[in-house]
Amino acid sequence: MSDAPAQPEATASIDSIPIFTEIDDPTFGQNWDWIGDDLFRREYQGLLRHDTLGVIVYGNADIFGLGTHDLVSHQAGLEGMEDTMYEYSTFTMRQPEHRAAKTLVARPVATVPVKKMAGLAAGIADAVINEVIDRGEIDLGADLVRPFIRRFWAEIFGATIDEISELQFYIEEILLAFQINPTEEGLARSAKASDGYIELATTVFERSIAAGDREIFTALMDDYEKMGDVGKPRNPATAFAVALLDAFNTAGALAANAIHMLVSSPEDHAAVRADRSLVSDAWLEASRLRPPVIATYRAPIQDIVHNGVVIPAETNLLFLWLFGNRDPEVFADPNKYILKRPNRGKQTNFGVGVYSCIGRHVAKMFGETIVHALTEPGVVVKPAGEVRYTIGSLVNEPVAMPVTVERFG
Ligand code: HEM
Repeated sequence: MSDAPAQPEATASIDSIPIFTEIDDPTFGQNWDWIGDDLFRREYQGLLRHDTLGVIVYGNADIFGLGTHDLVSHQAGLEGMEDTMYEYSTFTMRQPEHRAAKTLVARPVATVPVKKMAGLAAGIADAVINEVIDRGEIDLGADLVRPFIRRFWAEIFGATIDEISELQFYIEEILLAFQINPTEEGLARSAKASDGYIELATTVFERSIAAGDREIFTALMDDYEKMGDVGKPRNPATAFAVALLDAFNTAGALAANAIHMLVSSPEDHAAVRADRSLVSDAWLEASRLRPPVIATYRAPIQDIVHNGVVIPAETNLLFLWLFGNRDPEVFADPNKYILKRPNRGKQTNFGVGVYSCIGRHVAKMFGETIVHALTEPGVVVKPAGEVRYTIGSLVNEPVAMPVTVERFG
């Protein structure tokens, strides 16, 4: 780790900074526009606090400043996280274990291997679309994106569709622990699902590792054999399973958002149909406005000072990645859907710095594949009713997204 940067003079304690109240709104998650406006149009700009969540980081510059700070790492432990998840999740690791453990699980889903999977994904997307075409109203998530993801991972992992369905079910349950005010029952269900997920995913992955016929696991095992002791997981199959938690639902939620937001804007929809090179802009703009992982925690490993505020070691820092994307200093007219935006490199939806997301390439490939397939000549997707999102949670997914998919010509 490099030397800590020179720190500004301390002037304020975290107890004296203003409170973030919007997160307690019962509809938090349905509409982000007014919350972004509330946050960025008030006179005070800087860190906020919340009684139970800790210190809130939302401005783009604060996210980059603290998110790339040498002394800010993952939390030492996550409350309510059960033992196996705790042992294997890189979310609970610090340097040097974090870097080594993360490298192992990140490589099989890095840019090059994911590019190689794109052909398979495109074929599956076409097949799934054929099954829903002209069926009348469907749910974009449940009837199209989730079946696409099931078939894709079943093929890549050598799993059955039922096994992937079961993993998707466990993840929905695990997410109960990500509620802003989780209930006792929700936490218990989440812990049980966490066990179920780890057991099933480990079994499936170990089976394919033994069979030796899946490229993704050959790559994983090669790296595992070669790695040193630091950060080396006891079981590579379990480590990979835990790292892939977001690969079954979250990445699909963003793919659904990407196509829905596009078809809800007729001019942009027409532009993408006419120029396929805009498909990735459509995905990027949805990832800016509606990223499903809206917040995660980090913590300083020593006392630090940020813009004059003293943040004691181990303070919970809740990074609201979503709002880094809505900061008007960086994204003009932030609530507006604009395909060609400058400053894409300043988006914060996959986190920033060495702790950022390993799944961005998979998420991008899924999203672009779906948008591409649903903007093919002759295929027409239309919104067919109100979209509802999960509310009161740090993970934001569409729970209802009615559309019609029709073919012309
Ligand atoms: C649209 C989909 C996704 C979004 C918006 C998303 C977002 C995020 C964010 C915000 C973080 C926290 C980063 C930080 O603290 O800086 C993160 C971390 C992580 N994500 Fe994702 N993610 C997505 C999909 C995925 C997928 C598909 C995978 C697996 C293939 C994945 C695996 C991970 C892992 C393992 C970490 C922890 C990284 C670490 O420990 O350093 N994510 N993700």
